[in-house]
Amino acid sequence: MTKIDVLLGLQWGDEGKGKIVDVLTPDYDVIARFQGGPNAGHTLEFNGIKHVLHIIPSGIFHQNKTNLIGNGVLIEPCIFESEIRALNEKNVDATQNLLISKKAHLILPTHRMMDAANEQAKGNMKIGSTLKGIGPAYTDKIARSGLRVGDILASDFRERFELLKEQHIRMAKTLNFNVDAFCIDGLSLDQYEQRWMASLDTLKQFRFVNSEYYINQCLRENKRVLAEGAQAMMLDIDFGTYPFVTSSNTITAGVCTGLGVAPSSIGKVMGITKAYCTRVGAGPFPTELFDTIGQQLCEQGHEYGATTGRARRCGWIDMPALRYACMINGVTELFVTKADVMNDFDTVNMCVAYDIDGRTTDEIPFEYNTVPIHPQLKPFEGWKQSLQGIKRYADLPKNLRAFLGAIEQQTGVIIAAVSISPDRQDVLFQNK
Ligand code: GDP
Ligand code: IMO
Ligand code: MG
Repeated sequence: MTKIDVLLGLQWGDEGKGKIVDVLTPDYDVIARFQGGPNAGHTLEFNGIKHVLHIIPSGIFHQNKTNLIGNGVLIEPCIFESEIRALNEKNVDATQNLLISKKAHLILPTHRMMDAANEQAKGNMKIGSTLKGIGPAYTDKIARSGLRVGDILASDFRERFELLKEQHIRMAKTLNFNVDAFCIDGLSLDQYEQRWMASLDTLKQFRFVNSEYYINQCLRENKRVLAEGAQAMMLDIDFGTYPFVTSSNTITAGVCTGLGVAPSSIGKVMGITKAYCTRVGAGPFPTELFDTIGQQLCEQGHEYGATTGRARRCGWIDMPALRYACMINGVTELFVTKADVMNDFDTVNMCVAYDIDGRTTDEIPFEYNTVPIHPQLKPFEGWKQSLQGIKRYADLPKNLRAFLGAIEQQTGVIIAAVSISPDRQDVLFQNK
């Protein structure tokens, strides 16, 4: 019996998970998403073409590999349909190798409306949600009133849809939200609902499965399964910077509930971090840079959201947060991405501890959102050279290797590989 390997983000998202999953897919038989939904934007680049996936796992470009959307994931049928269409345009037919859990919950058009209504009601405590309906759909899941993929086939589906929709409309009105003015992609709620209903036909072309049985059978047959995380550790509903988080467990533990595998079935845990740090949306970010270096990271790193196009906030790599992420997730190896973005920097900084109220700490405090946190920065000399064309880890510039060595030493976790461009070819493994 094999174990399921896990790959997840250790920061605030957008670490390059999609790219690394794509690179690792040849080693696996099944790639499975276990949480999140269309709030995710996972970018893959190869042969000079860029692909962005939201709900579909990042193994989809490899033929003969199975991709699974697990029970912990949320599906928005219109967004799903547009992803399928984009794949078709690239001659990828996902109908043969994409399976969907019957227990995955659906995002209704009114979940998206409730996301907007909730954000409006929060005033200056807005989370900066992607407005894809994630919070409201998971809320209904926990409240035991959600609709699942398997329900689409039930005779009373439409009735249950209407009931839930009416409930959302009543809720939005109590929040003084203008329901009549609400639109998605320029369509009114009614118009979008029609599109949503029509897109269920696309969803029905896929195989709906009891994915918990499927995954466990794969493990029994010694197939290799990789669980692909979305969002990241610091956006986890329990351990992230609450309330500025997403509404799912993004951590290793989420693999057990989001796919139906036992904790003892977890194998390697691969954690992805950028060589610096970004965050999109509101919430604390102790190492954030508000100067030209921050702008340089944003511009050179093309730090604009793959889902919303928003500029990402940028700062230095944060070791207290990374150590926390390694602890909570049981990370067994690290992948460091985007080292190339800092090629021109004279100095590259690393936050090694926090100063809070005149006290030095290594812990993420409960008051993370409210107390001023001063990062203690350790400077490293920049490598000041292009990484283009480098094919072996050992050939990376000495100063970059010193920086990477410090990440290993600070976290106590080895770096499996470093990524030095968006392209799938530019991942250098340390021991290969
Ligand atoms: P994900 O959500 O974790 O899959 O990451 P995103 O796709 O949202 O954001 C990562 C961005 O960085 C994408 O635009 C990738 O193409 C890009 N990227 C990934 N790895 C590297 C790298 O090593 N260097 C550079 N320059 N860009 C990278
Ligand atoms: P990937 O998988 C970065 C952020 C949003 C917002 C908060 C809550 O591409 O790394 P939500 O829509 O879930 O209610 O938003 O979480 N967020 C992400 N930030 N990458 C993501 O996904 C994100 N998914 C959600 O910006 O601050
Ligand atoms: Mg992303």
